[in-house]
Amino acid sequence: MWRSSLRLGSWVGVVSFAVLVISGDAQAKLMFEQQPMKMAAAEALCHTEEPAGFSIMAVGDVADADCDSVQTFTVPALLSFLAHGDLDTEVKGIDDLVGEYRERYGSHYPDDPALGELAGEPVDYVPSLPVTYWGFRIMIGFGALSAAIGVVALWLTRKGRIPESRWFPRMTLAGIALPFVANSAGWIFTEMGRQPFVVVPNPSGVDGVWMYTAQAVSNVTTGEVWTSLIALTTVYAVLGAVELFLLVRYVRGGVAGVMGGPGGSDGPGGSDGPDGPDGSGGSGPDDPGSGGSGEALAFAY
Ligand code: HEM
Repeated sequence: MWRSSLRLGSWVGVVSFAVLVISGDAQAKLMFEQQPMKMAAAEALCHTEEPAGFSIMAVGDVADADCDSVQTFTVPALLSFLAHGDLDTEVKGIDDLVGEYRERYGSHYPDDPALGELAGEPVDYVPSLPVTYWGFRIMIGFGALSAAIGVVALWLTRKGRIPESRWFPRMTLAGIALPFVANSAGWIFTEMGRQPFVVVPNPSGVDGVWMYTAQAVSNVTTGEVWTSLIALTTVYAVLGAVELFLLVRYVRGGVAGVMGGPGGSDGPGGSDGPDGPDGSGGSGPDDPGSGGSGEALAFAY
């Protein structure tokens, strides 16, 4: 059972990543047209390039929008491909885009008291570069890593093999966590990359519609925000702790306690299964004969 569930999970990870590469590529092409600043911020691309290389990794402070202190390792022309499907498209850098954004959408926030301290101030059109640059790389990198773990797991468990090394279970456990981190990074990248807008203007569509995030702040006090944040975090933390507790008890109970193992009186072909409704199911969860597992699983049920 362990082997089949591991292989199923590995296939899901590998196939999902392949699908995400295709859908991510489509999203990138839309982003290039509709949110050019987000595209430049994802790359911390200060100056316009034609063709534009895709930065694999940066060393230095990517918040330095002049790129003076940043050394990036790039794959030539790959960003042009991601943006437009060819190897020579120009991708605009932050420098040029800031000028364009100011011209199109204004250089200052409206002088509206509802905007608080931002009223009448200059608009900063550059999103947080460390968040967007690293968010984009964590999204792709961790997704790729979890798919790579899936490929290794499929290879090592081929034709009935069960790997015995100690690092293997640890690696596969990491393979469960990595997509969650990749997902969160993708989401954070998307939301942070659209700043300072909550409704982003679309230069390839209806360009006259936009709203600054500062204009969308609702009339809720800081205390109220803290209260709901703490309440929700507490509820989820308690649920998480209970989940973990039950999970550990199930794992310690062992497979036999759930499936009916070799020592149990009802194997896989047993008449009423391990969790039969009448509770009399041989080596079922509350069968004392199945050792510690009975107690653990009885608790869980
Ligand atoms: C080559 C691989 C990938 C590429 C090229 C890619 C590209 C993108 C792009 C361009 C966006 C921004 C869309 C926008 O803001 O308009 C995005 C968002 C996102 N990506 Fe990826 N991605 C890739 C892999 C992944 C993986 C592996 C995951 C998760 C396991 C992931 C999860 C997300 C999520 C959750 C969002 C936010 C979607 C939303 O809130 O609308 N991506 N991706």
